[in-house]
Amino acid sequence: MSPASEIVLVTGASSGIGRELAHCFAADGSECVLVARSEEALHDVADALEGAYGTDAHVLPADLSVPGAADTVADRLHERGLSVDGLVNNAGVGARGAFAELDAQRQVDMIQVNVTALTHLTRRLLPSMQDRGRGGVLNVASTAGLQAGPYMSVYYATKAYVLSFSDGLAEEMAGTGVTVTCLAPGPTRTAFADRADIDEARLMDLGATMTPAAVAAAGYDAFRAGRTLEIPGWPNKVGAILTRFTPRVLARKVTAWLNGGADGAR
Ligand SMILES: NC(=O)c1ccc[n+]([C@@H]2O[C@H](COP(=O)([O-])OP(=O)(O)OC[C@H]3O[C@@H](n4cnc5c(N)ncnc54)[C@H](OP(=O)(O)O)[C@@H]3O)[C@@H](O)[C@H]2O)c1
Repeated sequence: MSPASEIVLVTGASSGIGRELAHCFAADGSECVLVARSEEALHDVADALEGAYGTDAHVLPADLSVPGAADTVADRLHERGLSVDGLVNNAGVGARGAFAELDAQRQVDMIQVNVTALTHLTRRLLPSMQDRGRGGVLNVASTAGLQAGPYMSVYYATKAYVLSFSDGLAEEMAGTGVTVTCLAPGPTRTAFADRADIDEARLMDLGATMTPAAVAAAGYDAFRAGRTLEIPGWPNKVGAILTRFTPRVLARKVTAWLNGGADGAR
């Protein structure tokens, strides 16, 4: 896809990896539509993009945990006459703790944001890309999607969905001019760990934590190259290969330990 005069929608653009991805797209001249709940933070990002790159940036506040939010976003794009060429499904939340003890609504909301809104938004915006014969989807998964994750079981399962969905859709889109790329980062220094209560987990202590700017740059390059999967950083790439050849029972026991177990202690 050519960056010239394209419009790219980024969910979760108010902070972390999403904000950095918006910078990557705006830097090459793309007009950005910024989606998240925090309207003030989105305006700050829009001002920064317009100031740094002179490109237009639109703020579209939405809570993707609300059922039907994807329809609301798509309808508001239509009302504003914005036809999206690139969709970056980056918004995501996690929660650490024993499944049976974590708040039920928090886990349902997580599935709504990480899985349902991502799928629904893709379903709403993909057909017009297909009609034009150009465009791309960039879905942000995680290396968490490569194995089961006890004490973050729902989060890991949502990311397994994103990996599988993206892979399948990439094949369906082959030859249409529309690309599908999945970015699967490992631990990254953003607000995510604090929000998901994993900042004290051993996982964040492995010494391979990346900056959101480096993760976004890798994802952006993969998207532009039309690659199907990008795992940024060589420690994460090596980890992904090892996981493939590790018995599932061992992988989940190691992950339980990395996630801090039921008490969350290091
Ligand atoms: N950080 C890591 O270690 C790591 C590793 C692998 C994968 N990832 C994935 O990377 C993606 C970005 O996370 P991050 O690390 O950049 O974390 P982050 O800084 O917490 O960013 C999360 C973004 O998602 C938005 N968001 C959260 N709930 C939302 C909702 N209900 N509706 C709309 N937007 C919502 C947040 O904005 P508002 O709060 O303003 O709504 C924020 O912009 C996520 O999908 C995450 O699973 C992160």
